[in-house]
Amino acid sequence: MTLPSEPLSTSAPCNVWDYERIAEETMDPGAFGYFAGGAGDERTLRENVEAYGRWRLRPRVLAGVGEATTGTTVLGFDASMPLLVAPVAFQKMAHPDGELATARAAQTAGTIYILSTLATSTPSDVAEAAPTGTRWFQLYCYRDPGITKALMDQAEAAGFGALVLTVDAPRLGRRERDLRTGFEIPADVTVPSFAAAMGGSVAGTPADMFALMEPALGWRDLEQLASQSELPLLVKGVLTGEDARLACEHGAAGIVVSNHGGRQLDGASATLDALPEVVDAVEGRLEVLVDGGVRRGTDVVKALALGARAVLAGRAVLWGLAVGGEEGALRVLELLREEIELALLLAGCDSPASVTRAHVTRAP
Ligand SMILES: Cc1cc2nc3c(=O)[nH]c(=O)nc-3n(C[C@H](O)[C@H](O)[C@H](O)COP(=O)(O)O)c2cc1C
Repeated sequence: MTLPSEPLSTSAPCNVWDYERIAEETMDPGAFGYFAGGAGDERTLRENVEAYGRWRLRPRVLAGVGEATTGTTVLGFDASMPLLVAPVAFQKMAHPDGELATARAAQTAGTIYILSTLATSTPSDVAEAAPTGTRWFQLYCYRDPGITKALMDQAEAAGFGALVLTVDAPRLGRRERDLRTGFEIPADVTVPSFAAAMGGSVAGTPADMFALMEPALGWRDLEQLASQSELPLLVKGVLTGEDARLACEHGAAGIVVSNHGGRQLDGASATLDALPEVVDAVEGRLEVLVDGGVRRGTDVVKALALGARAVLAGRAVLWGLAVGGEEGALRVLELLREEIELALLLAGCDSPASVTRAHVTRAP
């Protein structure tokens, strides 16, 4: 028997829950509440996690599988695993290196990094920090189409490979943790890409940006945006088969089943519960991704079994960033990759592509 070269410290975080606990212990309570919290009674926030407990894996044995790869493609982009880094705003509030650190971690882990419109680093800074990683840009729409276009152009010029239009936030959800702690994004936490898109006429404070967002987007706007860029455009925030069909008909290149991590409409379906109806409605026309509540490799395998091409992880990676900067974010991504690999192997699957609907069943 060989011993591990470095003895494991009993306090070393060994899963995402450990990272969350340490983040809570070390972060300012107001900032922790901002990242951890959801809207209203936080039913949807909790349900996103709990929905994974309502499905059981159906492992196949004697499948002759001794090794599993986690590698896959998403919209044709190579990824080391079917888990991408979700767009999360204002990451410098979690760690001074912010988005640059998470983008580098994603690059080292070999997976796709999605930069928020509300990022505290510009697309070109992120491209410089992680030049060989695959990067996508999450887009919010502004009332002035010139601002939206300028943001899209910044992302395209910095070599981002796809756009992800978030459609579940015509207005911010009511985040009661922030109301209780009195937390507001500090005015010095600015969004330089937004300031640049405005031609330097504003500082890019959160108040500036939220005031200028377009609340009344329609399917025509999606079509128009898709036609304005060479990049494929995914729609993030779809929860119904009806909207999934419309997304297919109006130029989307992919769908992210998402409820914004439970931060918008409290009481909306858990994303894993919504996934099957979206997958059925799409009928293979687009790739379907899902996010919300992913904390374990086994969660990822369950999402694949229900028809997702891949998942996005928001808070899981953020806790890694908060605890240990780039290294912490990378450790969380590696942990999840190792967990996905083990779950695939133990389920009798040699790759994400070999996971089928028959690998899950509803819990009794
Ligand atoms: C603190 C925080 C900020 C977020 N900011 C954005 C954002 O700027 N744009 C966006 O599309 N989604 C944003 N999201 C939603 C995430 O992209 C993702 O949908 C969600 O975090 C998934 O749930 P999970 O955290 O349980 O993995 C944010 C989520 C959190 C927790």
